[in-house]
Amino acid sequence: MHFKNILWENDKVIILDQRCLPEKEVYHTYQSAEEIARSIRDMEIRGAPAIGIAGAYGMALAAQNYPGNSFQEFCETLDQAVKILAASRPTAVNLKWSLARIQRIYHSSQGQDISVIQKKILEEAHQILSEDKDLCEKIGRIGASELESGVNVLTYCNTGALATGGWGTALAVFYYAVADKKKIHVYVPETRPYLQGARLTSWELDKNKIPHTLITDNMCAFLMKKKEIHSVWVGADRIVANGDVANKVGTYALALLAKYHQIPFYVAAPYSTIDMEISSGQEIPIEERPALEMKSIQGKMIAPEETPVWNPAFDITPHDLITAIVTEKGFAYPSFYQSLKELYRV
Ligand code: MRU
Repeated sequence: MHFKNILWENDKVIILDQRCLPEKEVYHTYQSAEEIARSIRDMEIRGAPAIGIAGAYGMALAAQNYPGNSFQEFCETLDQAVKILAASRPTAVNLKWSLARIQRIYHSSQGQDISVIQKKILEEAHQILSEDKDLCEKIGRIGASELESGVNVLTYCNTGALATGGWGTALAVFYYAVADKKKIHVYVPETRPYLQGARLTSWELDKNKIPHTLITDNMCAFLMKKKEIHSVWVGADRIVANGDVANKVGTYALALLAKYHQIPFYVAAPYSTIDMEISSGQEIPIEERPALEMKSIQGKMIAPEETPVWNPAFDITPHDLITAIVTEKGFAYPSFYQSLKELYRV
């Protein structure tokens, strides 16, 4: 990997501003949970596992910034930071999952010095990052076993090193296949309106010398008709108990197209993305992004200022369109409720 999307250095958090890619690699330094929440909301850092990691480091900053020595006041201050960070983006469950992990640390530390609890919170944030790196490797290796040399694959959005603490989820599958000396060719839809495919996935694949071709989102059907696509691989922001998947808006359309063309459709994600508390995709909160993100490209208006816009950032892919979910524990197959429960023994 040639870059880090997030790091902790000298008691500060450094974030690679993904809005500036592929043109420039710009890093910002942050010292408060509020700044991290803004950075997540404004998409400087994005991708479900990565925003979970950023949230955990945001909590480490909130803990570090607490100047007093009252346990109750410390917990109240940190609970407030949890609220601010959790509100930054609602769909990816990884953020809530990592904040809950940090919350468990301090709520169970009554009687300990504040300095000890601050250290424990930072260690937990480091642990969330290094654990995600391992999860990516496992998902990558397991998923890669499904690919033979010589295949064309299709992905969506960005699910690589920029979006996680390691090599990624769906993109890790491609990285590990190539590391196994398999020849693959990746088709990358540009992923309107934020262009994660064009700006970020193409950038990553280019840096790692993975053969790839960029297409616009509306070319996917014709691509499936004209080229031999072996399989589609996407990530997830939340997978619920029945196997429904929230992912970047456009994923649902791809899954429908894959079904029609009889192409296997895989979702790759770690356990931190699985939310067994929700039974169906309809209950997942879907973030709506500002109209300007759709009506302008790099500061230039491409639609009339007054034109009303609907800009959901994610959609729900129903479980019956999914061939398998690749996790760090192996493949989950339909029926997903049963299969996920068995994988995780919950
Ligand atoms: O809006 P984004 O860029 O945060 O959306 C990202 C996605 O939808 C990814 O597919 C998902 O988070 C998985 S990343 C491993």
